[in-house]
Amino acid sequence: MATPALVRRTRTHLSTRRLGHPLRGTAQVDSTNRALRDWAAEGAPEGSAFLTEYQEAGRGRLGRRWAAAPGVNLMVSVLLRPADDTHLTLLPLVVALGVSDALRATCGPTAGHLKWPNDLYCGVAKVGGVLLETAAGSGPAPAIIAGIGLNVNQQAFPPALQEKATSLLLHSGQRVDRAALLARILTAMEARYAQWERGAIGALRETAEERMVHQGETVTLHPTTQAAPITGRVLGLSPAGGLRLATATGTQVVFAGDVSSQPSFS
Ligand code: BTN
Repeated sequence: MATPALVRRTRTHLSTRRLGHPLRGTAQVDSTNRALRDWAAEGAPEGSAFLTEYQEAGRGRLGRRWAAAPGVNLMVSVLLRPADDTHLTLLPLVVALGVSDALRATCGPTAGHLKWPNDLYCGVAKVGGVLLETAAGSGPAPAIIAGIGLNVNQQAFPPALQEKATSLLLHSGQRVDRAALLARILTAMEARYAQWERGAIGALRETAEERMVHQGETVTLHPTTQAAPITGRVLGLSPAGGLRLATATGTQVVFAGDVSSQPSFS
């Protein structure tokens, strides 16, 4: 299958040292995370990235599907091969922060909000998400496949998603050059990853907390591991990247689940 023009155009914008080298892609694939996993098993180096213009079976968090219109969005996976497994649970945040940096630089600060654990928001609507999967590594840490899905120039969404989803085009009123944006994402992600490698964990968490949509608000958390939802005020992130909630019974830290807004009652 022919290499999409998006691959060639992105290469012309790219000035990263590691991420996006090499960069490959196809017009269509089941899932870029799946394709990159195969490539990683063949020995792809850290930074290898795989993109597509259309996914037949895009994967989302918690086993959900990721559906995106063809030819107008970004669907890309990047291979990380961390040297050790210290702070590994913070990597989803590191990737989401890199994407957030690039969105803020492209469309302004309201385009780079984070919703725990790894959704990207423009104002109150979801514009993208990050899905990290592990693969066999060669050292003490697994290889990480960091998948990024972003609604870029999509003009409309199905009725059920209209209130919840947006694109950069709908948010800013301007078409965004996807190649330039992807180069920016890889650059920002490389810088955040270097920060993580240096162990600058406090600074990463602090920035993420500043950009979190529900910081300080009362929310309901639907955990994946427990039946009962938890209501509490968002205090921030734990050192391992869990969500810290002030509940009626004290502070709780949750590591997997979905957050929804909770209207406050008086
Ligand atoms: C989520 O919000 O649930 C995460 C969505 C992640 C989607 C991206 S698109 C590129 C990569 N390949 C996949 O199959 N999924 C991720």
